[in-house]
Amino acid sequence: MKRVFNFNAGPSPMPLEVLEAMKEDLTNFKNTGMGITEISHRSKEFQDMLDETKDLLRQLMHLSPDYEIVFIQGGGTMQFLMTGYNFLHTRAAYADTGVWAHKARNTAAFFGETYDANSAQDKDYSYIPDTYDIKDGTDYLYICANNTIYGTEYWKFPEVKVPLICDMSSDILSRDIDFNRFDMIWAGIQKNLGAAGVALAIIKKSLLETARTDIPEFLQYQTFVKKDSTYNTPPVFCIYTLNRMLHWIKNMGGLKAIEERNKVKAALIYDVIDESGGFYRGHAEKDARSRMNITFNLANEAMEKDFVEKAKAHDFIGVKGHRLVGGLRVSLYNAVTPEAAEALSQFMKEYERVNG
Ligand SMILES: Cc1ncc(COP(=O)(O)O)c(C=O)c1O
Repeated sequence: MKRVFNFNAGPSPMPLEVLEAMKEDLTNFKNTGMGITEISHRSKEFQDMLDETKDLLRQLMHLSPDYEIVFIQGGGTMQFLMTGYNFLHTRAAYADTGVWAHKARNTAAFFGETYDANSAQDKDYSYIPDTYDIKDGTDYLYICANNTIYGTEYWKFPEVKVPLICDMSSDILSRDIDFNRFDMIWAGIQKNLGAAGVALAIIKKSLLETARTDIPEFLQYQTFVKKDSTYNTPPVFCIYTLNRMLHWIKNMGGLKAIEERNKVKAALIYDVIDESGGFYRGHAEKDARSRMNITFNLANEAMEKDFVEKAKAHDFIGVKGHRLVGGLRVSLYNAVTPEAAEALSQFMKEYERVNG
């Protein structure tokens, strides 16, 4: 079986050993004689798996009992809507660090006043501003921890007096941080934690109490909490992939070990950029560099196109930048191996030697 080096920005690779182990569960999950996609979401087997998934998240993230955990379909885009619909009563602040925060703000604007607490637009979203302008009567500050498109990541989180809501879709469980400092964390699982089709939401009970209850039931976080994410048929398979990935992270040594591994991977690529004398031009300012998505340019678009083609010919897939910004982007989510990062760094050095 041939496997390529997959640097896609999401959906993204899963560890081969996890995929291999899933084979048995596809036909016979927990000796039920049914595969994971065939069992009932009302069965004990599913409920046990759901409970275990939440427990694993609590353990790995060291979450205090003050949080509820729910799983919701509709991806990240649904969370843009639900965060605003549930928690925006008067006005909400958004840190404008790129496309995803912007989309969240635009969606929440249907439910009340939204404004930018800061903006990194002046330098083409290459940094993370560290001051926040919060108006009176603000219901929450919303940030996006890692900007998948521009390749910037928060290394210092805001200290503000209003509830803090964070989109962690592209760096969740990639590093060991204090998760208890957030009032809400949500993340699509398709980058670091499994198959596309579900977002997890971790919500502090004190914030949950402020959620609107005069909106359609299915769009209330309270509904998902009260019904333990099974108000309707949940995405059983996606939750199962999350469960498998959480076991994998635990077996790898937890978040500290995962963070070390991710540091090594990112350094391999950033070192090539930094040592290339301007052949590779990193987009993000050094103190805002993402370990998950490394964005850079070459001298011109023709060369970038050539790089993508040559990379593909060497089985390096998914290195083209996002369609909105162009350039190149290498995504190094949890399942990407250090060997894959090392192989790409060698390829980049060779490409520079031939074309520099
Ligand atoms: C940080 C971030 N938030 C939100 C989204 C949107 O997620 P979805 O495509 O699941 O709606 C993405 C998509 O890549 C993302 O990277």
